[in-house]
Amino acid sequence: MTTATKRAHWHTRAGFLLAAAGSAVGLGNIWKFPYITGENGGGAFVLVYLACVTFVGLPILLAEVYLGRESQRNVVQTFETLHRPGSAWRIVGWLGLLSAFCILGFYSVVGGWVVHFGLKSVTGALSAASDATVEHYLEELFASPALLVLWHTLFMGATVAIVARGVSAGIERANRVMMPGLIVLLVLLLVRAAAMPGFGTALEFLFRFDFEALSARGALVAVGHAFFTLSLGMGAMLTYGSYLTGPHSIARTALGLAVIDTAVSLMAGVVVFTVVFSFGQEPGAGPPLVFVTLPLLFKQMGGGQLVAVAFFLLVFFAALTSAISLLEVVVAYASERFGWTRRRAALSAGAAIYLLGVLCALSFNLLAEVKLLGLTVFDLLDSATSKFTMPLGGLLIALFYGWVLGPRAVAHTVGRPVSALVCQVLLWSTRLVAPLAVAWLLVAGLVDR
Ligand code: TRP
Repeated sequence: MTTATKRAHWHTRAGFLLAAAGSAVGLGNIWKFPYITGENGGGAFVLVYLACVTFVGLPILLAEVYLGRESQRNVVQTFETLHRPGSAWRIVGWLGLLSAFCILGFYSVVGGWVVHFGLKSVTGALSAASDATVEHYLEELFASPALLVLWHTLFMGATVAIVARGVSAGIERANRVMMPGLIVLLVLLLVRAAAMPGFGTALEFLFRFDFEALSARGALVAVGHAFFTLSLGMGAMLTYGSYLTGPHSIARTALGLAVIDTAVSLMAGVVVFTVVFSFGQEPGAGPPLVFVTLPLLFKQMGGGQLVAVAFFLLVFFAALTSAISLLEVVVAYASERFGWTRRRAALSAGAAIYLLGVLCALSFNLLAEVKLLGLTVFDLLDSATSKFTMPLGGLLIALFYGWVLGPRAVAHTVGRPVSALVCQVLLWSTRLVAPLAVAWLLVAGLVDR
């Protein structure tokens, strides 16, 4: 492995953990988790979700990090290195590149909305305006091609700038600032929430297991989210894992990662639902929860402007650290495959994804009528990746790890000698449990679009 020595690496193992946590903690934790929990009845959904993270998410996470660390290559060449040159498994890598490309296209647009609301809260436009005005901020934004594209440009520009600086000097450094910042902001918000009347109701809503409220559909949403929230199935964790060295156990790091990600989701859930219940609102508002419901409620609470600023800054950090990891998947491939400098790879990949993002942004207004399979560009990219390319990628990664690499890989993943039982559980999770759960997700997703 001659090129492996030339390859960039994390400066420290903690740097890897922070960066991987940065990838995992994203809009999925702060925007999506609360609203799907709200829609699926609270506690019982949370419990099923935790089971899915443990038995589906964690095994695939371990597999991805292991594949990257072992091959010291990007998402496509990993499969050739670990299997054989020209191996058909490299298609999994292409699928990953496709996912990264498409996800970042729409993720950056949503990142732009966060910038928009963040600025509105800083300038006081969120606290000073009437309820009716605030209620329409999101619609107004959707109606403005110029604003949507402007914020998307800014967000994508920031992502490219960080990735272009490199693994350690760019990605690791940015995460070192933003991730602790995110945790501090979240804890401050939690402390503020604890003083509000809806805090108890929120805890009860999230942690009381009412199985009546759970449906098969809810369980399906839980599998899908366990997958999405850990950034699995498209090579992000694989690529970050490829900058790791040494024979250490991956298991402990991956477990830490899953715990951090889950803790952030739960804390964000408590904050969001405390605000919702304190003002007697319904938890099942769906996607507009964070962008419409919360701003309205921030307006009414004491110190609401400060809370709003903290909240949107938190979401911004979460989104940006995830976007970075998405771009890195493509940049690692382009620079290693074509021998491009990192700068060139970041600029070219960034520019191409940026253009796709512009189409997404415009699909809310000028291109609203351009539809494929009844979906706008934005919805198409979102559904195609979360329902198809990511689950399929994850399924194949689990199978490759469990069946092609098998017990030897499992022993290397776990690292030091632990009980044979743990190894068997990991082996059969990747061979059977995770693939079956993900296959169910795939089939159900295709059946009812
Ligand atoms: N995990 C991210 C979140 O919770 C979303 C995501 C899915 C992602 N796949 C990814 C982020 C790949 C980075 C890379 O919001």
